[in-house]
Amino acid sequence: MEEKYLNDRLFFPATLRNRNSIADVLKNYIPDNGVLLEIASGSGEHAVFFQDLFPSIIWQTSDPEETHRKSIISWIDHQELSSKMPEPLALDVQKSPWPITNELSSLIKGIICINLIHISPWSCTKALFEESKRYLKKNQFLMIYGPFFRKHKTTSQSNLNFDQSLKLQNREWGIRHLEMVNEIGLNNGFVVDNLIDMPSNNLSVIYRLI
Ligand SMILES: C[S@@+](CC[C@H](N)C(=O)[O-])C[C@H]1O[C@@H](n2cnc3c(N)ncnc32)[C@H](O)[C@@H]1O
Repeated sequence: MEEKYLNDRLFFPATLRNRNSIADVLKNYIPDNGVLLEIASGSGEHAVFFQDLFPSIIWQTSDPEETHRKSIISWIDHQELSSKMPEPLALDVQKSPWPITNELSSLIKGIICINLIHISPWSCTKALFEESKRYLKKNQFLMIYGPFFRKHKTTSQSNLNFDQSLKLQNREWGIRHLEMVNEIGLNNGFVVDNLIDMPSNNLSVIYRLI
């Protein structure tokens, strides 16, 4: 066990609240084998939880922040999953090409991105689709989870407040419009395969590469 990382575990409280409902969606998309690539893994709490729940696959984490990658390693060690889970990739969606070897690329069956696109510039959403399509094969999925604005749907007051608070932190951040994200997806060869309403006014959107 890597002693040096044992105390680096971060705790993102939202992960405890949303992990079961996300797992309920994910279970329908878990392949028999291969790798699921997680973009923006954050603390790593989701990763170890999903790896435990879905032993048929290998959960490959990533995050551009070193403190987050240390936390992920620490969580992997803490949960005694280091023989199964690889170390996180230093992956920034906007830095092309992603640090993915040909071997890893051949094993990837799907990509998951939880709570990134509203806490990053719009260019990150574009990059997410542009790069994901390089590593996914036809019919494989990109799942995006988070809050969205939707045409013809009333936005909850909590999401309106959340959007304001995001923009105050960084004016390039903010809740995205689902229809605009779908358009970026379509421009990159992705169609919406499924749209699932999640607790606390979030959505899981499953895009498929066609
Ligand atoms: C709100 S946290 C979500 C973390 C985790 N997915 C969760 O739900 O707890 C946003 C994460 O996005 C990562 N992030 C920010 N900009 C990024 C980028 N350009 N590419 C990839 N990840 C990024 C941050 O380092 C952070 O870990």
